[in-house]
Parts: sequence; structure tokens; C-alpha cells
Amino acid sequence: MDIFWALVALSCLSLGASLQKTNIYEGYKVYEVSTKARSADNGLFLSELAKNQTYYEVLPGFKGRTSARVMVHPEEQLNFVQLMAHRSVSYEVVNHNVGLTLSRQFEKNRMLRQSYPYNGRLGTERYYTHSEINQFIEDVAKENPRRAFIKTVGKSYEGRLLKTITITNGDSRRNKNVILVDGGFHAREWISPATVVYLINQLVYNLEENGDLLEDYDWVILPVVNPDGYEYTQISEDTRMWRKTRKPSSSECVGTDPNRNFDYHWRESGASDDPCSNTYAGSKPFSEPEALVVSDLIRTYSDRGQMYLTLHSYGPMILYPWGWIDEVPETVDDLDEVAKAGYEAILEATGTVYEYGPSTTTINYAAAGASDDYAFNEGFPISFTMELPPGGDDGFDPPASDIDRLVKESWVGISAMARRVVTKYPLA
Ligand code: ARG
Ligand code: ZN
Repeated sequence: MDIFWALVALSCLSLGASLQKTNIYEGYKVYEVSTKARSADNGLFLSELAKNQTYYEVLPGFKGRTSARVMVHPEEQLNFVQLMAHRSVSYEVVNHNVGLTLSRQFEKNRMLRQSYPYNGRLGTERYYTHSEINQFIEDVAKENPRRAFIKTVGKSYEGRLLKTITITNGDSRRNKNVILVDGGFHAREWISPATVVYLINQLVYNLEENGDLLEDYDWVILPVVNPDGYEYTQISEDTRMWRKTRKPSSSECVGTDPNRNFDYHWRESGASDDPCSNTYAGSKPFSEPEALVVSDLIRTYSDRGQMYLTLHSYGPMILYPWGWIDEVPETVDDLDEVAKAGYEAILEATGTVYEYGPSTTTINYAAAGASDDYAFNEGFPISFTMELPPGGDDGFDPPASDIDRLVKESWVGISAMARRVVTKYPLA
């Protein structure tokens, strides 16, 4: 074989290799690291590592506060395991190749999209796009003109419409109390909008079981706060783990953490001033249109609003104020009572053990500028961040086959908390 053919063969080989589908998470591993022994120490050590964002992303552990999960770049893995050995920290590899898991998940989702095209209803078969969810709430309102109302409350940075659906029992009584729910603050937390969709289905189509939740209460629901980010995570494996909004925040980096962007004690704790960080608080409070829209909603309903519930993942946890400081408000007993009702209902129904308590000490970090503290301060007596359960290998991607089980379980908790709220805070 002369040199020419050798080169042709070589270039074919490398072409073949480059055609083989890979993504930026190819070879990344996820380690579950024990933070139990010398916990404060290890926690601190991990947050030091996390500062090197090229190589590390620290995720919450699956075993509550006794572990953390760390996603590590292929070139750093040797160094990482040596560091762990040196500090005698025990760990376990929980995902050997994040890239592979993600591309399987994407393939699966593509197939499910074909098998279950949008038909006016949204079930629990698969994850849905933002436009499907908007279409769905429009269709629900059209089908139930006396019970469901759509309002366009704003636009995302890229111009997607933020629409709320207000659900009533159709008795046309005005000025009822309000439960305000949102999902999809953080782009990659796909189980959150899925849970909101299930909740809408329950309130609209299962009035027999849920009539008491609509007797003296209206529900106002914004299913996807951050649609630009949410759509971005659906483009490819490479963007699946996106968290923030999509507005450029500096010449190099895109996005702000919408849950650090509220003006209440903005940037005073657990938020970054680095535009490239995953918890970037934004250039100023409410720099993000999406956060501003939620704050408007909260203020619109603050005199009638009894519970604000924002759905994130992953925990599982029910968190109440404060989240910006390690203190509890005077009404902590009320918050605790309602959170406990959710915890108990879920425990009894499925055995899943949620943690519940004041945000800062329960999730183990303070973070200012979040919507839960904002809503509580604006007058919602009950305000929770619900961190839905983890799933998949990195926590943020429960396989589609788990959606049904997870959203049903979460509804058990949410409805139990709402039930407690409607009796505890009767219509004045
Ligand atoms: N995982 C959520 C976040 O980081 C937790 C927010 C809890 N609330 C708070 N005020 N810190 O945004
Ligand atoms: Zn979140």
C-alpha cells in the first residue's frame, strides 16, 4: 500500500470515529462521595473542587446529607481518585459514562415523542416541550371554559410566552384564597414541569377527589418559569445539564440563575457574582425577565395567597424559609406543620422518605435571592421549595418510565399539604 492509500485509509478511519456519536459528557464519571466522616471537612473540600468548573460539578447526594455526587471530567478522574484516597474518603462510581447515559436517554425520548404525539392531553408517558405544555393549558381552558383561565403574564428573554392557568371549581365566586405553584425554574429539572402537568390534570379532571381543594381556593399555576433554558436542555446531550436562563451574562458566558435573581437579600449568600457560574445572581436584582414575572405574580396574589409552592429537583426535600440565612421565621410551627403533612402522606403512600425543615440547614447551604423567601416575605404564610426525588444516573434525568410513579407520589404530598392549608387558612 503506497503512502496515498495509507492516508486515505487513515482519514476514513478518523472520519468513522468522528461520525460515531459522542458528546461532551463522553467519559465523564459520577462519584458518590461519603461526606459522613469529617463531614464539614469533606463538604468544604468538595465545594473547593467545585470551583474548578471545567473539571467538576458537585451535585447533591442521593442519601441525604451523608453523601454528595460529583461529576468529574475524564482528564481529572485519576487526580480525583488519588485525592480521595489521600484523604481516606470512601466513594463509589455511580455512573461510568455520563455521555452514554445521556445519549441513550435522548434516543429514548425521540422514540417516545413519535409514539405519543401531542393529542390535546398530556399523560405521563414522556417529557414535554414548553410549547406542548402551553398548548395543553390552552386546550384545557378551551375544554373547560368555566373552570380554567389562561393569562399571558410575560415573555422569556428569547420571547417565549409565559402563561398561567388559573383553575377553579366553576362556581364563579370571586376573591377566593389562592395557591400559587410554579415549575421549571431550573432548566434541567425536567420532573418539575412534568409534576405541574399532572397537578393540572388532577385539579381539572378529578374534581370528585379534589373538590375540597377548590371550594374556597383558586389555583394559579405557571408550569415553566424558564422556558428558554428548558428548551435548551432538550436540544442535545451536550446541553442537557443546563440550569440557568439563556440571556448572555458576559462576553463569554450565558445565563443567570433565576432562583438567585430576586431582590430579597439579593446576593447576600450562596450566590455568585461570576457570570460563568451556575449560581450567578445576575447583574442586578430582577435582571432576568423570568424572575420579574414570578415576582409580579407573587405580588399580584400576596393578599389572597396562602401557599406558594415552587417545584425543583432533586431532593427529596420540602424546604421552608429562611433559605438565605440560618434562621427560622416566627411562624416556623405553621410552616413545619404543613410540610410535615406532606412528608407523612408520602411516607405512608410509598415509603419514600422526604426530609423537611428550614431550607438552609436542611439542604445544607444558604442561598439568597430565591423565590420562596421572596413569596414568604411578601405575605404568603406558607412558602415551600419542594425538591422532587432524584432519578437516572445524575439525579436530573429520571427515565420517562419513572415519570408516572414520581408525579403520582409528589401529588400525594402536594395535595396533603394543600388540604392542610385550606383548613388551616379558611376564607376570611
Ligand atoms: N435547590 C434550590 C436552589 O438552589 C434550593 C432553593 C432553596 N431556597 C432558598 N431560598 N435557598 O435554588
Ligand atoms: Zn432547582
